Amino acid sequence: MPPVSQAAVSAARQWTKHSLSTSSNVSRITASSLLTSTPESQKRLATQQTSTASAQGGASFDSPFRGQKSATDFNKVPSFKAYMSRGSEPSTRVFQYFMVGSMGLLAAAGAKATVQDFLVNMSASADVLAMAKVEVDLSAIPEGKNVIIKWRGKPVFIRHRTEGEIKEAESVKVESLRDPQQDSERVKKPEWLIMLGVCTHLGCVPIGEAGDYGGWFCPCHGSHYDISGRVRRGPAPLNLEVPEYEFPEDGKLVIG
Ligand code: FES
Repeated sequence: MPPVSQAAVSAARQWTKHSLSTSSNVSRITASSLLTSTPESQKRLATQQTSTASAQGGASFDSPFRGQKSATDFNKVPSFKAYMSRGSEPSTRVFQYFMVGSMGLLAAAGAKATVQDFLVNMSASADVLAMAKVEVDLSAIPEGKNVIIKWRGKPVFIRHRTEGEIKEAESVKVESLRDPQQDSERVKKPEWLIMLGVCTHLGCVPIGEAGDYGGWFCPCHGSHYDISGRVRRGPAPLNLEVPEYEFPEDGKLVIG
């Protein structure tokens, strides 16, 4: 084999360089053309892909993205109205309204039942309600006498006062009392004095027709109450308490 001349070698190198640069230019052009493809080229590409798919599978599909004018149009949500059934939307809405209404009714019924059960459980039972009020026949209590009855677990004093006792109770100067109260504020009928038999000091039961003021006396610590149940001496801070009561008819007393 004859030796290759220097000129031939350099010519071969020149040709190789030219060939390489030309192929890289082609690659660069292809990539840049893909990156900066125009809308028309994208549309052409989409049409080609569609026709290729049709040719391969025989299926047809109209893409909602077809017909986009520019690259920014791809950010918009396309309309799918062409693929929606015409009668589907109203029927779905009616079903939704029906479900919401049914659930609301069920929830309201459940809440009502819960609140009703709670209130029934919390209210007083029949025996407690029966004990809440006590009826007393006043005709059985003679004038000048005390009667003690039990009401809600506490003693209640009922005093049928005499004329003299009423005058005595009304003549007291209330300014001198520890717990100032007129006798008329403590009774509804002057002859009937009704009050709780619980000492306002520490809760003992005072003794009737005893003490320095002709009323009640508490032996626990020496409190004296007058004929109107007002504290006159001793450690008790307040008068004997008057409960709720009424006279529904003559000779009848209802406490509570
Ligand atoms: S409890 Fe009546 S005076 Fe103390």
